[in-house]
Amino acid sequence: MFSCIMNKGNVFKCLLNGKWIESNTGKRDKIFSPVDGTIVGEVQCISQQEAEEFIVTAKDAQKDWNNVAVNKRADVVHKAADILDREKETIAEVMVKEIAKNRKSSLSEIARTVDFMHFTAEEGKRVVGESLSSDSFPGFGKGKVSIVHRVPLGVILSIAPFNYPINLAASKVAPALMAGNSVVLKPPTQGAISSLYLGRVFCEAGVPPGVLNVITGQGREIGDYLVSHPHINMIAFTGSSKVGRHIAQIAGMKPMLLELGGKDAAIVLADADLDITASNIVSGAFSYSGQRCTAVKRVLVIESVADELIKRIIKLVNSLTVGNPQDDADITPLISDSAAEFVKELIDDAAEKGARLLAGNKIEGNLIYPTVFDNVTKDMRLAWEEPFGPVLPIMRVKNSEEAIEIANRSEYGLQSSVFTSDIDNAFKIASKLEVGTVQVNGKTERGPDHFPFIGVKSSGMGTQGIRYSIEAMSRSKAIVLNLK
Ligand code: NAP
Ligand code: G3H
Repeated sequence: MFSCIMNKGNVFKCLLNGKWIESNTGKRDKIFSPVDGTIVGEVQCISQQEAEEFIVTAKDAQKDWNNVAVNKRADVVHKAADILDREKETIAEVMVKEIAKNRKSSLSEIARTVDFMHFTAEEGKRVVGESLSSDSFPGFGKGKVSIVHRVPLGVILSIAPFNYPINLAASKVAPALMAGNSVVLKPPTQGAISSLYLGRVFCEAGVPPGVLNVITGQGREIGDYLVSHPHINMIAFTGSSKVGRHIAQIAGMKPMLLELGGKDAAIVLADADLDITASNIVSGAFSYSGQRCTAVKRVLVIESVADELIKRIIKLVNSLTVGNPQDDADITPLISDSAAEFVKELIDDAAEKGARLLAGNKIEGNLIYPTVFDNVTKDMRLAWEEPFGPVLPIMRVKNSEEAIEIANRSEYGLQSSVFTSDIDNAFKIASKLEVGTVQVNGKTERGPDHFPFIGVKSSGMGTQGIRYSIEAMSRSKAIVLNLK
């Protein structure tokens, strides 16, 4: 089923108005595997002039799509979920090569996306309007009725990051389609091939021509053009805070959902169950080699239990396997050499400033062994910057007030965890943390995907989660009946 998306030699095409096409410029990006440097394939570098057609055809197709009954739109999304499930092995194999995510996690990303799409198809049927009577407002009596509909926004530009090329693409496309919008999907360049497979899945499911266009090309070449285009009615972006901020500055008056970076803290109090805490911290910090916005990116532990917690953390870290994603290693090569170099800078800075190395700091190209530092202090970059790699800083604190102060001093505000057996205290601390979500006795994480997912400060704007995303991708439209 995927032969139409590529030519011989693994040259991948883009999806424009129901057809798989190549750029007239002949320009292409080679996608190298982070695992071994081999070429996974080539993707089209669509020019700005060509990008116009992706947007215009999406605009034209949207009106008819909105006229399709919502239960029929749901049928298409359900069907796409079934096809994705059917093709999971093929797509997971691409992900392993393209983004070095291990096979098990690639398959679980796909399974989660299948569930997301089915749930979205159903939830989309239930996001409805309301009617309001004027008699609840003083002075109007029963003279007016407002009939409030939910209507689509138009064309949604969906921009996804490399770390979830299926899930963070589908979690924008499916709610947008259910709300009656059309979509221009711009996948990450490293991850584009996986997202093109997803595009094909939606096509086969019966998404009409133009309702989903998938455009490839470097963000720095076509990104500004796409986000500032007047026919783009809303932007759903996941990626770095740097690019998110840039988009917010240049896009003009468009609604936006921005999911950006994080520096999630795990606060560990003296009465925490240390076994549960350590296992949550290690899986939270090191899954997909720390390349998750919600990874545990620092531990703030009360001094009196720090040694005991560290003993447990290190035991678990030493059991992590390092190597090839095809062999299901826990720690796999980072997405690029430059990503690994950045992580190394943070490691070197911490080591030079006196942090105590407990594990790791072994680097082979873009493969970084799981690294843990104790005694990380506020003057170190690792206390504040997001490594997006397998390195965990531990900071010892005197009390919960100091933990809250350090957690809140971050520029980011995605999530935090609080580990304690005192639930009242957990709620008191949670209410003071400046983040979108606080996890009590669990690692920071986004799922389940119908929960609200919120980033504040440099971590983003708006609320995602199945119903929240559909609402964000639609708007109220009121028709007022003036009664005699
Ligand atoms: P990135 O470099 O910001 O890229 C994200 C996407 O933006 C890619 O598709 C990229 O395309 C595109 N892009 C780049 N410049 C653009 C521009 N000027 N206009 C429009 N689009 C542009 O991020 P990444 O390296 O893929 O992902 C890692 C970052 O994402 C981390 O900071 C992580 O915390 C964050 N993240 C956050 C969440 C969350 O839910 N909060 C989830 C996942 C990731 P190209 O690939 O072609 O450059
Ligand atoms: O990388 C950012 C993702 O949105 C995080 O999702 O917590 O399920 O890994 P996750």
